[in-house]
Amino acid sequence: MGLFSRKKDDGGEPVVRPKHIAIIMDGNGRWAKKRGLPRLAGHKAGSETVRRVLNWCRDTDIRYLTLYAFSTENWRRPAEEVSGLMKLLEGFIEKNEAELLEKKVRLRVIGRKEDLSEDLQKAVQRLEEETASFERQLLIALSYSGRSELVYAARRIAEQVKAGTLSPDEITEGTISGNLYAPDVPDPDLIIRTSGELRISNFLLWECAYSEFYVTDVLWPDFSEKDFMDALNAYSRRNRRFGGV
Ligand code: FPP
Repeated sequence: MGLFSRKKDDGGEPVVRPKHIAIIMDGNGRWAKKRGLPRLAGHKAGSETVRRVLNWCRDTDIRYLTLYAFSTENWRRPAEEVSGLMKLLEGFIEKNEAELLEKKVRLRVIGRKEDLSEDLQKAVQRLEEETASFERQLLIALSYSGRSELVYAARRIAEQVKAGTLSPDEITEGTISGNLYAPDVPDPDLIIRTSGELRISNFLLWECAYSEFYVTDVLWPDFSEKDFMDALNAYSRRNRRFGGV
């Protein structure tokens, strides 16, 4: 079921499910600090939440899930945290390869892939190829920022102009959308941010134009199925007008 599709739930209320959910998974560090643990323990616990969210998306028929796993700014974190996070991501791909294949989930990484280690690039590429034909998609934003995605799109468009295949006055919003990292993926209907910050943090800047926002104080490692359903239910009650009346 997708955007605007309606299903009666038990109470007879119409249910509107997002087709695409994007999540800013914040609060791993605070979760660890509260327990006197190293920050990396928070990221580890956060990657378990990722596994659970994938199941909840399957149960609720969400077609696209985008997760903000590592921003271009995150390279400035202490080297130990950066390398720990990269290992965690590599491990996630390794450990979940069979499950993604079995559950028919297409994995895609969006971001500056060239910044990743060769091993991680290879692992990503292999799994992207193996899962390319599946409809349900997990997009992981890695070395990603909305601004660098727009730079990427601008460069690609400039190349087409330079090559003479596009003229400047033919450039439309569709041209920009069509040159982003995952041009075929619809814009997110719902963006969830955990741990209470009211910021977009350079995430999906072009794509979020009409997204609904949902912020919860819950820290990412504690994000539960109830929290997920609360976000979906809040979305279902929203009245999206896309600038109309
Ligand atoms: C923000 O919390 C979170 C991150 C920078 C990393 C998110 C990564 C994961 C959940 C791990 C693995 C991801 C996948 C897709 C397997 P923070 O460190 O900024 O927390 P804080 O604001 O409390 O310090």
